[in-house]
Amino acid sequence: MQAIVYTQYGSPDVLQLREVAAPQPADGEVLVKVHATGLNAADRYALSGQPIIARLITGGLRRPKHTILGADVAGVVAGVGRGVTQFQPGNAVYGDLSGVGSGGLAEYVCAPEGVWARKPEGISFEQAAAVPMAAVTALQGLRDKGQLRAGQRVLIYGASGGVGTFAVQIAAALGGEVTAVCSARNADMARALGATHVIDYAREDFARNGQRYDLILAANGYRPIGDYRRALAPGGVYVMVGGTMSQIFQALLLGPLLSARGGGQIASLTARPNRTDLAYVGELLQTGKIRPVIDRCYPLSETPEAFRYLEWEHARGKVVINVYPSGS
Ligand SMILES: NC(=O)c1ccc[n+]([C@@H]2O[C@H](COP(=O)([O-])OP(=O)(O)OC[C@H]3O[C@@H](n4cnc5c(N)ncnc54)[C@H](OP(=O)(O)O)[C@@H]3O)[C@@H](O)[C@H]2O)c1
Repeated sequence: MQAIVYTQYGSPDVLQLREVAAPQPADGEVLVKVHATGLNAADRYALSGQPIIARLITGGLRRPKHTILGADVAGVVAGVGRGVTQFQPGNAVYGDLSGVGSGGLAEYVCAPEGVWARKPEGISFEQAAAVPMAAVTALQGLRDKGQLRAGQRVLIYGASGGVGTFAVQIAAALGGEVTAVCSARNADMARALGATHVIDYAREDFARNGQRYDLILAANGYRPIGDYRRALAPGGVYVMVGGTMSQIFQALLLGPLLSARGGGQIASLTARPNRTDLAYVGELLQTGKIRPVIDRCYPLSETPEAFRYLEWEHARGKVVINVYPSGS
């Protein structure tokens, strides 16, 4: 089968399209013919091996342990190992394989039964591949860490990217009054996704406009932790999802201290893929409460180009690799 392989950390130039042996499902595993694979920031970190913590998480200190990237996969079951009870060949499925070695940038991938869910009816493979990691991260940040309740004022920083476009929609679906922070070119999209207010970060400072929020979810961009804290309403929650290393370390190291001093809670999210949350998101997709926003699709052979686009950090929603374009 064809796969995008990398054997050393580096820029997208180290990604190679190669012929490799197709995987065989072991006991409890499902073999999937991949139709589409969504890219995430996590794939970028695993490619570059930076920050170093990415190497610790994936287990390859000197060179990549798993040589095929791609966690968010949508495709069709092509075979099952012994003991698999919930899937059979022909089922359309999707899932987040980040906890089991990824491998979606290939024509076939095997992963344990537990990571797969049935693809919701009425959405394409490309759309399904855009969903798992970003949407589940947004859900866990808003509902679990953020304890979002209907009627609350929610600010999403980095609202126009992969996580942010889902966060705006999920926050609105849960009854929040959403303020989206993004660039001016994405303002209309943010409104269309459910934001009541939009702040262009180049023209307005959310931390100094006098507004206060019950929940702030920061998906990207760097602002000092004090800015987020200043913009919290009494008892509000700030959830750090991603951004620069200093943003992450400030939340991790100073968060507990600042939370203890009162005036709001500072929380960091480490999203965990799980099928229950994917099913929850699938329900929102099927009922039309949320929709994936896809900026660009690339064929498998152009994966390096897709990574270069992702590195820009201004993709509008998601970037997806078409392995077997729908219908083939
Ligand atoms: N904690 C977890 O478990 C977890 C899980 C998944 C992802 N993450 C992290 O979440 C972050 C976001 O992921 P993503 O997939 O959404 O990334 P992404 O798609 O690359 O994010 C792009 C977004 O970032 C905004 N942005 C870029 N530079 C900015 C700046 N200087 N100021 C304000 N906004 C800026 C862009 O806005 P404009 O284009 O409108 O300018 C766009 O909305 C990453 O750091 C990722 O590692 C964490």
